[in-house]
Amino acid sequence: MSSRRIVSGALFLVALSVVQFAGCQKSAGAEVAMNKEGTAEKGFIHPSWALTMDELTALTAALPKEIAEKVSSDPVTFLSLLREVLAEPADLFIMADKHHELKEDYEPDDLVNLEAEGVAVARNGLLLRKEAAEALSNMSAAAKASGIDLVVGSAYRSFAYQKIVYSRNVKELGQESADRESARPGTSQHQLGTAVDFSPISDDFADTKAAIWLQKNAYLYGFSLSYPEGYESLTGYRWEPWHYRYIGKAGASLVNSFFDGIQHYFIEFLQTNGDTLRTKVQ
Ligand code: DAL
Ligand code: ZN
Repeated sequence: MSSRRIVSGALFLVALSVVQFAGCQKSAGAEVAMNKEGTAEKGFIHPSWALTMDELTALTAALPKEIAEKVSSDPVTFLSLLREVLAEPADLFIMADKHHELKEDYEPDDLVNLEAEGVAVARNGLLLRKEAAEALSNMSAAAKASGIDLVVGSAYRSFAYQKIVYSRNVKELGQESADRESARPGTSQHQLGTAVDFSPISDDFADTKAAIWLQKNAYLYGFSLSYPEGYESLTGYRWEPWHYRYIGKAGASLVNSFFDGIQHYFIEFLQTNGDTLRTKVQ
């Protein structure tokens, strides 16, 4: 190694201690820093990102002020988690809502039976994508260890099945009420194979021990509440305390720590900035 490289590396390590790379272990952070010679001199705020604070501020400008402020108060933790998110398969973060439709033939190719994964179900034959099913199985075991039974009432729903569910809701509730809690075919997160409804699928679920445990712990297993209370104008649906979506551990941590628990803002942020962010991560 040349002496110039050593001096430059040493300079960067000094800079590292000044900006305090939270979330990185000291030795791992130092190693990355040595490999990213010159990063600090360019004003980059994280050793794994070619991104300045001004660029990050611009990327978060469309988010609600409180969220943008949280990101700017701890950009290193934010970017560390975001880097993990970008390493996950992009189909974990597809937007499916009233304005973003899935094709009729969209069907994940890694669906597995929840019973086979040891997950308690209210009816047979429920499916979820493999990674989500495994995470759900781990989460169920952890809940069980705390004396809580998580029982799944609904999981993957094909376009055709969602058509049946939606029609039944329209018949029972009327069009207007149905549209507040049942997705038209092609717009349901259930078609992604990563969304799950815990039983009972009713407002009563909110007061159960399971619901309270999930609110506190689901993110640790990569699950995030999709339709929180008070956000119907954003998400399109009234509060559904039973409906969670798997977005991976880093994604769920980001939603919890930076996006005020609002999954929609996070998915929207990725949809808008994902391509740019991928060019900046090293
Ligand atoms: N209940 C949610 C909105 C769905 O039908 O996908
Ligand atoms: Zn649901």
